[in-house]
Amino acid sequence: MTDRAFWKSFTGLVLALVALTTVLFIVAQIIGGKPAKTEEVTADAKSIAERIKPVGELTVGAAPAERVVASGSVMDAIIPAANAAGADKGKATYDASCMACHAAGVAGAPKLGDKAAWAPRIAQGNDTLYTHAIKGFQGKAGMMPPKGGNMSLADADVKAAVDYMVSQSK
Ligand code: HEC
Repeated sequence: MTDRAFWKSFTGLVLALVALTTVLFIVAQIIGGKPAKTEEVTADAKSIAERIKPVGELTVGAAPAERVVASGSVMDAIIPAANAAGADKGKATYDASCMACHAAGVAGAPKLGDKAAWAPRIAQGNDTLYTHAIKGFQGKAGMMPPKGGNMSLADADVKAAVDYMVSQSK
């Protein structure tokens, strides 16, 4: 094959390929059609998010107003602390060191908010409750460990926690 003949057929081949590319491009445009409009895409995304969103949401932190009003609901039993608006020292101590037993009534602990369980205890007077909470107490129901087992607590914090528990349970 001479150089000339080569270039002739090579040029022919390149032109044929360019023509084929153009034809394929046009065909693809016809078959593929226009891309979906953006509005449709967002509408889809919205309805998908709507359909796959979780059934419930857990809110941690400040209690919404309705929950404070609706006392006696299931949430009260699970998260009694959610009822107390504001985070004072007593509540903070309770949440950190006392809730483990006193929220659900573990090992005979009087439940926060259980008026019947607390009434006779409250009747003993605050000083007895403070002493029992700080020094520990073996009662008929079970064993209240000194400071709820958290010896790093100051007596004042334990007293504040007792005050908080009493205020929530009468
Ligand atoms: C390991 C579980 C546990 C933890 C933690 C715990 N308690 Fe108790 N608490 C008990 C039990 C059990 C009783 C009931 C004892 C009984 O009367 O037989 C009790 C009773 C009490 C009482 C009533 C005492 C009385 O004289 O009737 C107070 C007040 C109290 N706890 C305060 C607290 C405070 C404040 C904390 C956190 C600093 C705390 N508790 C943490 C188990 C616990």
